[in-house]
Amino acid sequence: MKDKIKELIEEIDSFTASSKEHVEEFRIKLLSKKGKLSELFDEFKTVAPELRREVGQKLNELKDKAQEKLHHLKEKFDSDSDSGKEELDLSLPAETLALGSRHPLSIVRNQIVEIFSKIGFTVSEGPEVEDDWHNFTALNTPADHPARDMQDTFFINENPDILLRTQTSSVQVHVMENSKPPIRTISPGRVYRNEAISARAHCQFHQVEGLYIDKKVSFSDLKQTLMYFAKEMFGEETQIRLRPSFFPFTEISAEMDISCPFCKGAGCNICKGAGWVEILGCGMVDPAVLDNCGIDSQQYSGFAFGMGIERVTMLKYQVKDLRLFSENDLRFLKQFKSAL
Ligand code: DAH
Repeated sequence: MKDKIKELIEEIDSFTASSKEHVEEFRIKLLSKKGKLSELFDEFKTVAPELRREVGQKLNELKDKAQEKLHHLKEKFDSDSDSGKEELDLSLPAETLALGSRHPLSIVRNQIVEIFSKIGFTVSEGPEVEDDWHNFTALNTPADHPARDMQDTFFINENPDILLRTQTSSVQVHVMENSKPPIRTISPGRVYRNEAISARAHCQFHQVEGLYIDKKVSFSDLKQTLMYFAKEMFGEETQIRLRPSFFPFTEISAEMDISCPFCKGAGCNICKGAGWVEILGCGMVDPAVLDNCGIDSQQYSGFAFGMGIERVTMLKYQVKDLRLFSENDLRFLKQFKSAL
């Protein structure tokens, strides 16, 4: 019996518990009615009288030890689960929280806003669910105009007059209808087109529209403004070139290229050897658009431009697949750090 007691003492000493359940198992095994201690106390009745004193003492020691151990174990797991009772050490350094970062499209949008706000452009916004007038008709693009084909549009079934805007040029119309020149504003926002999603096209993307209306605004104002923008955005060494183009709402119209920001014009695979990359559309606001929006085209003239934020971002950060912007892959998003 003495051996059994010794064995149990060793077992108690070396016992460690990993959970509350484990502690309970310990209690049942040793201290419950059918536990080992109970068994030993039963056995004690058979111990020879001359040994009783010694064995009884050992048995009591064993019982105390088991109870003490159980008490400690219970205390440990109770205080672990009861954080309210835990003492707070206020001098410990705070846990570092993982901070999110701004989306690359937001970074570039904010940069564009900042660049234009330095030369007096305000920011205006318009609705994404638009009517035909603001998205097309007021912009000199009536229902039968072939230019509508270029912007495959999501219409609302119940009311074909309502659509998801295909361009932020629609905000120009709101601004002109609601304010008087001089107007100097940019309008960043999301636009929608019925395009199959691929590395180079998406059914939703972002544009920034620019509009400047005042007396005697000329094409050279447009050119200077855009050159300033290109240099601020892509670096002082950036060159621009304007190519004649067509948009229904501008006359004359142009497309602007910048010297390739990667090869500095030497020719590389990004600019496909051309040394130039297209970045935006622009032109002098068509007098018919001014009149449509309640601005006297005899007194005022203006310029407008529109660019894709995805396009600028892809050029700035060498992003090759448009889909990365909307897939929310943290491995991609974590790479962009900016104070803006
Ligand atoms: N809205 C045009 C588009 O989505 C871009 C554009 C071109 C805007 C010329 C303009 C402009 O204001 O003058 O393709």
